[in-house]
This record gives sequence, C-alpha cells and structure tokens, in this order.
Amino acid sequence: MLEARPAQMVLSLVSLCAREVVSDHSSSPNWLRWVPRELYRPLLEASFAGCRPLTVGELVQRWPERTLRVGGRRRRGQTAPNRLCIQGLLLAVVRGLSDARSLLHVLDLGGLQGDEGGMGDPMGGWSLTVALCTMVVQARAGTRRAQKKEGDRERKRFSVLERERDPKRERGLRKRGKELNGDETSSNGERTGPSGPAGEEELNTGVRRRMEIDRKRETAVTGSGGSKKEAEEKEVDSDVLVHVRADLFVNARSWERVRTALSASGPLKLQCRYLRVEEISVSSIRTLLDLLPRTGLLGIDVRYSSLGVAGLAELLPLLSNFPALSSLRLHYCNLDFRRDLAGQEEALRNLSQGLTHLRELRRLSLTALRLPGQLRVLLSSLPQPLEILELPYLSLSPADLAYLSCSHHVSTLQQLDLSENRLDEHTLPSVCRLLSQASSSLQHLCLSGCGLTDGLLGLLLPSLGGCFALKSLALALNPLSMAGLMDLMRMAVRMPSLRQLLYPTPLEDYQPGLPDLPSSAQLLDWPLDESTDISMTSCQLNRVLKDSGRSDLFLTCDLLNYDKDLVE
Ligand SMILES: *[C@@H]1O[C@H](CO)[C@@H](O)[C@H](O)[C@H]1NC(C)=O
Repeated sequence: MLEARPAQMVLSLVSLCAREVVSDHSSSPNWLRWVPRELYRPLLEASFAGCRPLTVGELVQRWPERTLRVGGRRRRGQTAPNRLCIQGLLLAVVRGLSDARSLLHVLDLGGLQGDEGGMGDPMGGWSLTVALCTMVVQARAGTRRAQKKEGDRERKRFSVLERERDPKRERGLRKRGKELNGDETSSNGERTGPSGPAGEEELNTGVRRRMEIDRKRETAVTGSGGSKKEAEEKEVDSDVLVHVRADLFVNARSWERVRTALSASGPLKLQCRYLRVEEISVSSIRTLLDLLPRTGLLGIDVRYSSLGVAGLAELLPLLSNFPALSSLRLHYCNLDFRRDLAGQEEALRNLSQGLTHLRELRRLSLTALRLPGQLRVLLSSLPQPLEILELPYLSLSPADLAYLSCSHHVSTLQQLDLSENRLDEHTLPSVCRLLSQASSSLQHLCLSGCGLTDGLLGLLLPSLGGCFALKSLALALNPLSMAGLMDLMRMAVRMPSLRQLLYPTPLEDYQPGLPDLPSSAQLLDWPLDESTDISMTSCQLNRVLKDSGRSDLFLTCDLLNYDKDLVE
C-alpha cells in the first residue's frame, strides 16, 4: 500500500508531462530520437487524449515493444480515441513494417469499437473494420511492390557488378537478393555489406522477418500438435510480421472487403476477437467462419439475418471449430419454429445436436426468436452451465420458465435478462424458484416490461430480496402503483450488493385512460400527467434511500440513464 501511492503519483506526473510534450507537434523531431521505450506508452496515450494524429503515427511507426494494445475497457468519462488518431495509427502500422526500429508483432484493437457516433468522433465498429481490412490488403500490395522494386534494383546492381566485379562476389549478392524477397533457401555464403540507407532498412526488414519465421518454427515444433487446420495456419503465418487482433463488424456492404482481407496472406494478419454480423446470409456467414483463424474468436453476434432454425443448425458445427468461443448472441434471426412446416422437428434436433459441441459457451443471448416451449431443447444440450443468459422478447411459455428454474444453468447464472416476457401468477412460481436457486451467483437481473403488477411483485419480493449478490436490477415498464414502488424500495435498500435500480414510472404519474393491464409499449408511449409533480416520486424514493443510509445505491427511472455495465 505504502509503495503503491508514490508509484501512482509518478505515473500521473509522467502523463502530465507527456501531454505537454505532445502538445506541440513541431517539436517532435527534437525529442523523438531520445525517448526511452518506457515513455512510448504514456506519450501515445497523451497523443490520443490530445488528438495528435501525427504524433500517434510517429510513435507507432517505431513502436519499441512487441505488443501494442489500444482499446479495452475505458474508465468512466474516458473517451475513445478519435477517428483521425486511429487512421494515423493504422497508416503508421503499415509504415512500421519497413521501419527497422519497429518491434511491433501484435496490434490488439479489441474493445476499441463502440457504435458509431458518441462524443469526440470515435471510429465505430463498421468503419474501423473497413479501415482495418483496407490496411491489410494495402500492406500486402505494398510488400509485393517492394519485392518487385527490390528485385529490379538487385538486377540492375547485379548487371553493373557483373561488369566490374569478380564472380565470387556476385554469388553472395544474388543470395542476399533472394533473402530479401522472402526466399528461404538459407545461405551460409558471404554477405555483401548494406548499400546505402535504403539498403540497410530493407536488410533490417529481412532480418526481422527471418527472426519471426524462426520464432514461429520454434513454437510450431514445441507446441503440442494441433489440428490439420491449425498446422496449416501456422504454415501460412510464417510471412506475418504483425498480427492484428480486433472485433470485426460485418454487414452486406463490407462483407466482400472483409473476405478479401481474411483471405490475404501478407505481412499483416487479421484475427477476430468478437465477430458481429448484420443482415447477411447463412452462406456468407459460413464463408467468414471458414476464413477466420480458429484461435482467439471469443464471441459471435448475429443480427437481423434470416437464419431460420435450419440455417442456425447448419452454422453450429462451424462454430464448434473455435475452441475459445464463449459467447453466442442471436438477435432477430427469424428462428420461428413451426411444427406445421416439414423438416422443422429434424432441424430442431440438428440445432440441439450442434449446441452440444459448444464446449466453452458461457453466454447465450436470444432476442425475439419465436420458439415457445423449446427452451429445454436448446439449453439442455449445452455441455457447460451458462453464466449469462439473455432471453428478451421470447414469448417464454410456462413450460420454458419451469424448465429454466430447474435447469443445470440456474445456479451459475450471473446475468439474467427476461425482459419483455409477460409473467403472470402461473409463471411467477417458476421465476421465484429460479431466483432462489440463483441467489448466490446472480449479479444482474432485468425484468423490465414483464407485466409485473403490485400483486405479482408482492409474490416475487421474498425471493428477489434473497439475491444478496445482486448489483443491478431493472424493472422499467411494469404497471406498479406508488404503493408497489415503495414496497420495492424498502426491499432494495436491504439488498447489500445492489448499486443500481431502474424503477418503473408509477401508474399515478400517467395521464388517465391507461388500460387496466397496460402493455410495456403502452407504458412507454402513454403521456405522463403534467399536473402531478414527477419529481415527487423520486423525492419519496430518495427519502427511503436517505433514511436507510444507502448513499451507494443509484436510482433512476430513465431507460437511457441506466447501464448495468457501469456497476463495478
Ligand atoms: C439435419 O442434419 C443432417 C445431417 O447433417 C442433414 O442431412 C439434414 O438435412 C438436416 N436437416 C435439416 C432439416 O436441416
């Protein structure tokens, strides 16, 4: 503890100085050559923070470490690097390929992508994916050009030498030319010295590449024997100078570009951490999965693609090829199950069979699939218990909830989202049982838009209150009265871990005329009563909070202001 403090102080002093140093780009020629490698990181961070794309480029081009990680979890208030800075970074990575000072071998951009928009013009997942793919393709073209140019230059030099020098010398030169071209017939022959600065740089690139190749060989030999595909990947990787890890967002417009980049062999190799695809066909998804490197894919997210049960069943065997895949999310994928259609039963059996091979799956999100009564078929075939289960808009049947409450997933669940599934007195006992079973593990629960009335909530509160690990609870868009809301509040303040509560607007705050059992859509759209003082509700709730001394519990009724991921 005592030592940690001064270290942190020094760190912030370094970052303050770094901001000052990068604030004037015209000064960079003076300091760049003298910067020790320990200072590259704080200088790069300062360049991102101060939006200095040129400085970002200068630092990255001569990056002195094997790994450069940009992105990852940002602290509250920290903004993502600006678009220009990311572009500067990507260009510099390509320049760095032929810069002897660069030691970069792994560029990790995982977690960098948010959605487009937001503060400070960040680069969204879609355009970053396109930019990355363009970079990979250009780097390959650049290598080809450089090889061709070097080849031409060597031929010219060679013909000059042929006239002037003795034959022994020429043989060595010819060998060096081959090495620079990535030709691996190794030479023990004498080397001619580098000829001029350009030659030196190219030679260094050649040396660097050879070192990478040697390293690959070593790991390929010592590493345990993988599948044939893995072996092939290692073989292909031997030309790779920099591995680029990123989350890829692919839609119909960028699919072709991504396909080209993934098929390219060259100095940059694209690896995918999370894959998100939108509105593309089963066969296009299949092509992508075939091209992706097997290691490193942690999650796949398919949205608005009309897979159908049979289409998903077709993809599952491919997914089982990715040993680290832990997250599968399907949103609006047309997985309607219709008994009257021929082959549906069989397709569902195939689906269930395919799921048995997803050995590392810990997170499953199924949004708006219409598979009522089929939850058992899906979830019981998963070999490992899930930690995150999201089932919003699923029209879960009483049988589904009954199955869930006694499934093998229930005692490991950390996050559960059952929003927009209507609950009633028939299904509520299952939900209560589920919560009791999950009480020691469950940290995040969403029951927004579930049709919870005061009476139903009353039935739920005892098991809900027993969830002592719960950190966030979302109950928006449920038809509760002020009295019901106060009951909820009194329970919430007794939950030791709870940090965020999203509560519904009480029925009293709406304009008259709401139906008796309003749907969540009606609760969302119905106008609020201007004459009642809305802040009254929040005052009353906050008084309960204050009286109980719970300053650590954040209350909101604003859907946009609620983010369970902000709970530490
Ligand atoms: C189920 O899988 C088998 C074997 O892969 C396949 O031949 C069959 O067409 C699949 N059935 C459906 C309905 O998708």
